[in-house]
Amino acid sequence: MFDKIKEYLQEVNSFDTMDEQKIEEFRIKYLGKKGILNDLFARFKEVDKEDKRSYGQAVNELKQAAEQKVNELKANLLKQEDDQPQYGDLTRPGEPIAVGSRHPISIVKNQIIQIFSNIGFNVSEGAEMEDDWHNFTALNLPEHHPARDMQDTFFIQRDPKDILLRTHTSSVQVRYMENNQPPIRTISPGRVFRNEDISSRSHCIFHQVEGLYIHKNVSFADLKQTLTYFTKQLFGQSKIRLRPSYFPFTEPSAEVDIYWGLNSETDHRITKGTGWLEILGCGMVDPQVLRNCNIDPNVYSGFAFGMGIERIAMLLYQISDIRQFYENDVRFLDQFKSVF
Ligand code: DAH
Repeated sequence: MFDKIKEYLQEVNSFDTMDEQKIEEFRIKYLGKKGILNDLFARFKEVDKEDKRSYGQAVNELKQAAEQKVNELKANLLKQEDDQPQYGDLTRPGEPIAVGSRHPISIVKNQIIQIFSNIGFNVSEGAEMEDDWHNFTALNLPEHHPARDMQDTFFIQRDPKDILLRTHTSSVQVRYMENNQPPIRTISPGRVFRNEDISSRSHCIFHQVEGLYIHKNVSFADLKQTLTYFTKQLFGQSKIRLRPSYFPFTEPSAEVDIYWGLNSETDHRITKGTGWLEILGCGMVDPQVLRNCNIDPNVYSGFAFGMGIERIAMLLYQISDIRQFYENDVRFLDQFKSVF
């Protein structure tokens, strides 16, 4: 029996392989449940009394040798894997990397932010969930104003109807004025919500950018000049006109059209044959709105404007259906890959 153990020990010591499976077979052969070592331990009782001690030592020695061998060979294997060149063939052509694209709404939003930051505006944001005061009351929308009708507003709390999804980013003007003293130059991009039917021209969720400038002696001429600069930057075109309009929070109020031209049939269609396109609403902030926000209208005046990002993106990229912005169709989104 001792000779046999010696033989095993020799076999163990001389065993060598880089084959994972062979290592495993070796392990099972010696150290497995029905392996040589368990068998040798089981025979312990058959050994003569005076030999028991040296038998035990010999079997333990074999066991240690087998365990050590398995660990050694496994470690070699791992080391060999680590030593493999990491990049393989360096002359091989690269794998194509799938490049994502920014969403057109983000592209246009960022452009607008950039244009206004260049003339000293900062960016402010407000919550999408608002209360009545910030969305309506502070902006001179009295309780029974049609814009407060359930038709337009998603109310979150109905009784009392105080908490709602903001219907415009003008709510951020109010919050900004409440928390900051003039001079104020801020633009507020964000998502707004209206309970409207979804069609190719309108959606119940869309985006706006609000602008606000409050200082001493701000005049309507400043407003017009700022918007002329803006349209020149964004559309490369500064021919604009201001049409008298009405918003409860500005007085006087205007809507701004840019001259789009009538070169193609599409131009005729989108401008309804006039060559002019409406792009935003604006006006001088109503003194009552300033007062509501703790700003003294005898000292300060200012202008505000608001525009829909989707509408501008549709004009810039000639997109004819607003729903495309929200469908996440990769064929649509892919086309904006080259724009940042
Ligand atoms: N809040 C208006 C809307 O949602 C847009 C607007 C018009 C904002 C005139 C203004 C403004 O700040 O002066 O249609």
